[in-house]
Amino acid sequence: MTLGFKGDILLIGASRGLGLAMASEFVSRGWRVTGTVRGTKRTGLQDLQDQQGEAVEIVELDMTRIEDITALHEKLEGRRFDMLFVNAGIANANPEETIGAVSTEEFVRVMVTNALSPMRVVERLDHLVAPEGLIGVMTSGQGSITNNVKGGREVYRGSKAALNQYMRSYAARETGRALRLVAPGWIRTDLGGPDAPFTIEETVPKIVDLLIGDMGKPGLRYLDREGKDVPW
Ligand SMILES: NC(=O)c1ccc[n+]([C@@H]2O[C@H](COP(=O)([O-])OP(=O)(O)OC[C@H]3O[C@@H](n4cnc5c(N)ncnc54)[C@H](OP(=O)(O)O)[C@@H]3O)[C@@H](O)[C@H]2O)c1
Repeated sequence: MTLGFKGDILLIGASRGLGLAMASEFVSRGWRVTGTVRGTKRTGLQDLQDQQGEAVEIVELDMTRIEDITALHEKLEGRRFDMLFVNAGIANANPEETIGAVSTEEFVRVMVTNALSPMRVVERLDHLVAPEGLIGVMTSGQGSITNNVKGGREVYRGSKAALNQYMRSYAARETGRALRLVAPGWIRTDLGGPDAPFTIEETVPKIVDLLIGDMGKPGLRYLDREGKDVPW
C-alpha cells in the first residue's frame, strides 16, 4: 500500500459510469486509485485527478488488445495492489436481438470484451495483488443461469454467464484469495440506459463497502450490491 493511503486499487474501466464513480468513492475513502482509460481522449478520470492529485493515477488500456495488457503488465510490474477490480464491459448494440440473429462479428465483440478480456487481465495481473487483498470483476445478475426465466438480452447474458463460469474455473486453480463477481443491479449509466431504476450514487458506495469488507476472505462469491449471494 502506498504510504499515506488506506489501500491501492487497480481499477480497469474507470473513464465513466460505474467505474468512474467507484474511482471517486475509493478516493473519498482514502484509497489510491490506478484507473484505466482507453485512448487519449479526456475523460472524467482526468477531472478526478485534477481534483485529487496523487490519489489518482491514470494508465491506458483497451483490454481487448493483448499488446495493451502486456504493456500495462510491464508498466506495473513490481507494484503491489490491495485490490484489482475489472469493471469494464459492454452491451451489444441491439439488446433485443436473439442469439440466432446476432452477427458473428457482434457476438465475438461482446464475448471477447465481457468474458475473455477480464480473465486475461486477471490472469496476467493477479500476482500484483496482495494475498490478503481481493480480485473482483463486474458481472451482471443477467449472468445467472438459475434466474434466467424470462429471457431477453441474450447476447449480453451469455457473455456474463461465460465470465462467471471462467471465474469459477480460475477460482478452482487459484485458492486462498478473495475473489468476487459483483452484480450491481440495473443502474442508470450509458450502458444501463435512462429507464434503469437505480442511480450510480445509491449503488456504488454499497459495492465499495462490500469489496473492502470482503478483502482477505478467501473463495469466490457471486454477490449483488447488497452483498447477497446470487444463484449461479
Ligand atoms: N449499468 C447497468 O445497469 C449494469 C448492470 C449490470 C452490470 N453492469 C456492468 O457494469 C460494468 C460497468 O457498466 P456501466 O453501466 O458503468 O457502463 P458504461 O457507462 O458504458 O461504462 C463502461 C466502461 O467500460 C469501459 N470499457 C468498455 N470496453 C472496454 C475495453 N475494451 N477496454 C477497456 N475499457 C473498456 C468503458 O471505457 P470507454 O469510456 O473507453 O468506452 C467505460 O469506462 C460493465 O461490466 C457492465 O456490464 C452494468
